[in-house]
Amino acid sequence: MPKLNENYLQLKDSYLFSEIAHRTAAYTEKHPDKPVIRLGIGDVTRPLCECAIKALHESVDEMGQAATFKGYGPEQGYAKTRDAIAAYYKRNGVDVDADAIFISDGAKSDTGNITELFGHDNVILIPDPVYPVYVDSNTMCGNKVTYISGNADNDFLPMPDHSQHVDVIYICSPNNPTGACYNYEQLKEWVDYALENEAVILYDSAYEAFISDPELPRSIYAIEGARKCAIEFCSLSKTAGFTGTRCGYTVVPKELVFTSSDGREMSLNTMWNRRQSTKYNGTSYIVQNAAAAIFSEEGIKECQENLNYYKKNAKVIADTLTELQIPFYGGIHSPYIWFECPNGMDSWTCFDYLLENIQVVGTPGAGFGENGKNYFRLTSFGTYESTVEAMNRFKKLFAK
Ligand SMILES: Cc1ncc(COP(=O)(O)O)c(C=O)c1O
Repeated sequence: MPKLNENYLQLKDSYLFSEIAHRTAAYTEKHPDKPVIRLGIGDVTRPLCECAIKALHESVDEMGQAATFKGYGPEQGYAKTRDAIAAYYKRNGVDVDADAIFISDGAKSDTGNITELFGHDNVILIPDPVYPVYVDSNTMCGNKVTYISGNADNDFLPMPDHSQHVDVIYICSPNNPTGACYNYEQLKEWVDYALENEAVILYDSAYEAFISDPELPRSIYAIEGARKCAIEFCSLSKTAGFTGTRCGYTVVPKELVFTSSDGREMSLNTMWNRRQSTKYNGTSYIVQNAAAAIFSEEGIKECQENLNYYKKNAKVIADTLTELQIPFYGGIHSPYIWFECPNGMDSWTCFDYLLENIQVVGTPGAGFGENGKNYFRLTSFGTYESTVEAMNRFKKLFAK
């Protein structure tokens, strides 16, 4: 009998979305005449932009001709795609070398797989609440996690505790689920703390494209010193509607060098390159060509139309909650709106209350950590019409 990875026994059941689906299905079966509005989805709904479609078609045609057919590509990604991403960083005022960029099939794989570069006796700091992949992927390999609390007192933007040493720090900004977004000063404090502690920051920037205020950093590398202490994960999922097309990228700067227990220098860039070359055979040529098109100036402009659509929905939600005096976070630089459950409800009670009374489905905050248990996440990925209708129902339900 094989000995199994019993760390899996330590995982908490991920019943969040199945439970939401189950409760929603039970309700609709009982009340088929009452249409439910879903503002819980973390998936995009707008179609791919024109330049992505054009690049996809052209690449498919190339694959159909012997002269232009492509087999295995470089595991790190094609130079064209890496260069296009480096140029995108440059246009946003950040220097990132193309050879620090690794193209992937999305940020979920990379944020999950990155644990392989680290030993098992690190102090690993993970915010609560946050995207559950960080905790689960560490649990799967037997790592112990230390939580840092995001809460109303720190506007869900926890800051370092300078009296405590940590080795690995997860940061997600703009945050899923809270929508909160760090400013320069706050990120600088994290970078300075990491440098002082010789720690590494794992910076998840999957929602950077939602940041429209030029005063807010869209990359950790906008902060001086970050290339010596941070890995950045990005995704085309929300930027370009690639949740089904699949493409992301991870930046591992060459400056990220640490010392092994026997005094040898270890480069995280070299290690990640080795890891990817061993276990990953690259993102498809077709998808990478579409990604390169996305990061052209024209491509980014086209994507912005979809982002603006979602941002308009977010504003409808944010304005309604403001009017109803329900405290909330996010909704400006993020597709997520994180509100405090009214009348002291816990998040699952709030879920049932909204479903029963106004047929609006969202995501209970408890699914993102202990600190989410009295909060609720709505997303702006629905249609404009359904978002407006959901908010009209909110107004009727919560008007004082
Ligand atoms: C914070 C965060 N990181 C990463 C991902 C995963 O992105 P991808 O679709 O690129 O795997 C998500 C998706 O919901 C997310 O919310």
